[in-house]
Amino acid sequence: MSRPGYERLPMHTVPEQGPPRSRSRSRSRPQPFRIPMTLRSFDFTRLLKVILAISAAAILYTFYFYEPHIEITFYSRKWINSEIESVGQLAGCFDEGRISAEYNASRYLKGPKEVEVHAGMGMRLGMDCYEFAATIPLSTSANMDNGGPHLAPDERTQYHTYWRVDLATFSERQEWMLKSFFATQDHATSRLIMWSNGDLSTNSILASYAHMHPNSFEMRVVNIPDLASGTALDGSPLLKTNDKKAWTDGDLVRLLVIWNYGGVWIDMDSLLTRDLSPLLEHEFVTQWDCYDKIYQPLNGALMHFHKHSPYLCEAFNIMATSAAPRADSTDWGALLYLKLWRRLLGAHIPPFKVLPFCFSDARSCRLDNRLPDPFDEDDGSEARWWRATKDGLQEGGDLDGALRSVFAVHLHNQWDKTFPKGGWVERLLLKRYEEKLAERGDL
Ligand SMILES: *[C@@H]1O[C@H](CO)[C@@H](O)[C@H](O)[C@H]1NC(C)=O
Repeated sequence: MSRPGYERLPMHTVPEQGPPRSRSRSRSRPQPFRIPMTLRSFDFTRLLKVILAISAAAILYTFYFYEPHIEITFYSRKWINSEIESVGQLAGCFDEGRISAEYNASRYLKGPKEVEVHAGMGMRLGMDCYEFAATIPLSTSANMDNGGPHLAPDERTQYHTYWRVDLATFSERQEWMLKSFFATQDHATSRLIMWSNGDLSTNSILASYAHMHPNSFEMRVVNIPDLASGTALDGSPLLKTNDKKAWTDGDLVRLLVIWNYGGVWIDMDSLLTRDLSPLLEHEFVTQWDCYDKIYQPLNGALMHFHKHSPYLCEAFNIMATSAAPRADSTDWGALLYLKLWRRLLGAHIPPFKVLPFCFSDARSCRLDNRLPDPFDEDDGSEARWWRATKDGLQEGGDLDGALRSVFAVHLHNQWDKTFPKGGWVERLLLKRYEEKLAERGDL
């Protein structure tokens, strides 16, 4: 049989034919080995010290010239087996006749889309993710003709966020999220609902927003049992889930709120950088980081689902039938979405989309293409790959351009930190929010 191409293989890949060569015999009898006198009194501690010093030098040398990529995580095999490997069944939320009349499946699940949010591969190299974000147009025909200016509050795109009153006082640092919202989103067609677990209406900052934006800002207190009514979690003891980092209850609140009202979820520890409406043809969660951690690829810090989305209906079923979330875990903030995604595939249902990491969380990548630390001075080591304006950052990628292309910067809580004076966050984001708000007559 002829094997075209075989000859073109480089020689070293052709396996050796014939019997293994025998090892050459020793030519002479070995002499008995005698330890010289000088070695007998050798100082082994000294040798050890020399070896350690050489190893340390080698490690330093390696880390200086090479980029180490090390991440070791230990997962219990029992956990992998029960939580990852066993893909459960969907509960039938996508079945004919079970989709809510308020959810337009022919449009949301099967309708044509103008904007593509999947690049087709992970974008870890250079500025690829930011460049891909720049392919998303500033507006689409869908959001150009969605009713014209000054829609009634209920007809607007709903944006939801959540503040836990027992976590910290809502103050200036938190207000930046609101400023970013009103500086970047369309006031006439959107509304931000600030959910909380206690009354915030007496907070002077929030009261001023409610006064300034009667149609596009509102505060509401969550009533979890009410929001869960009619879902698979209705009456479940899981609704009392709570932990001190506001993780699991925040993860629950977002799903319930979007199920009831539809719209976009934005974590409070985010700064928006762009109008999100061109993304809203799709239902989506976000990519956890650029590494695509195999058991933790998805994140709900920014997400979008329509009211009564069957995706969320399935999510509630998974929550109701799985083990309770562990305290301060991402069981409902990451694992749940992965389970849901895999069940959808298992049932041959097109899954929701996953926004690339940099769209909302560009801090979660390699040192040379993640956003510099927002709380670090510009001369900090992390910022050295970026070029921004005359002052501050130099070399490497264009930070300003990157921030204009992506949609949000996720700050990962860090509520105790302030943005450094003259740092990139102040120059490229906060100052521009103020300018935009002044232009809009909001200040
Ligand atoms: C659902 O979406 C389709 C396609 O966009 C549209 O033609 C239809 O009118 C919508 N149905 C309802 C009930 O809104």
